[in-house]
Amino acid sequence: MLFIKTALIAVQGELMEFPRDRRPASPSADSVTSIESVGAANALSGLAPPREPTTVEGSESIINVSKQLGKEVRLKVDAGPGCGGIAWPSGEVLSQYIGYRYECDPSYLKGKKILELGSGTGLVGIAAGILEPTAEIWVTDQKQLLDLMERNVEYNGVSSNVHVDELNWGEQIPGHIPVNDLDMILAADCVYFEPAFPLLVQTLCDLIPIGKDIEMLFCWKKRRKADKRFFALLKKHFHSEHIEDARPGAKEQYSRDGVSLLQLRRIK
Ligand SMILES: C[S@@+](CC[C@H](N)C(=O)[O-])C[C@H]1O[C@@H](n2cnc3c(N)ncnc32)[C@H](O)[C@@H]1O
Repeated sequence: MLFIKTALIAVQGELMEFPRDRRPASPSADSVTSIESVGAANALSGLAPPREPTTVEGSESIINVSKQLGKEVRLKVDAGPGCGGIAWPSGEVLSQYIGYRYECDPSYLKGKKILELGSGTGLVGIAAGILEPTAEIWVTDQKQLLDLMERNVEYNGVSSNVHVDELNWGEQIPGHIPVNDLDMILAADCVYFEPAFPLLVQTLCDLIPIGKDIEMLFCWKKRRKADKRFFALLKKHFHSEHIEDARPGAKEQYSRDGVSLLQLRRIK
């Protein structure tokens, strides 16, 4: 029953999120080749998280980001604004990976400027903001998710270093996001809707121009055969490599769930 409800949430979210007339902005030499759109019904299959990804207490999801440091993100979830209103499995994996890197090296996020794409509830960016108060983070998504992200930023007490912004893939990056100064880009569970694939690749190209070496952590969950079309587009512009994850059993666990954690590097 829970699964069916979640699937419906995802379906509603998809239909709201991708107006047919959304056009990529600022096409350039980096422009991403457009690909064939698929029928909405096809695109919506198999999208819901296969398991309850987080601890749920009342109307909250609680994600342990670092047990060792006692850091957790408490999320208000809301299915109303679309599929991003709940925490997804890759977001949990990426938050915990960042927590682990921080445990190993407390300077890992120090003073960094970080942008998260398709942030949904704000999970990954908020996790970074909780771990490292000197990091400045922009959590971004489509308009309908902004209120929920704001609420979660406030709820976790990170309003001073986590900013909420609208960033629609394929469109101009908002001017106040310091694109040239970013140290790190994060994205979790953003591969799930085929018409958005070229838009996401375009935004990645805009954020990471040729010659820029920046940490880009990309966590995704394999759901549909069509996902490979995203990677076919991506590999025209980026090398991707699986991240070595030294936590005992962690990689085996999330790999079993179909989740992969990648580092992307722009092709020179
Ligand atoms: C499956 S959710 C993942 C949310 C979050 N990263 C997590 O792991 O819990 C995908 C997110 O991508 C966002 N998204 C989808 N299409 C987008 C677009 N064209 N521009 C910006 N964000 C988009 C959705 O609004 C949603 O929040």
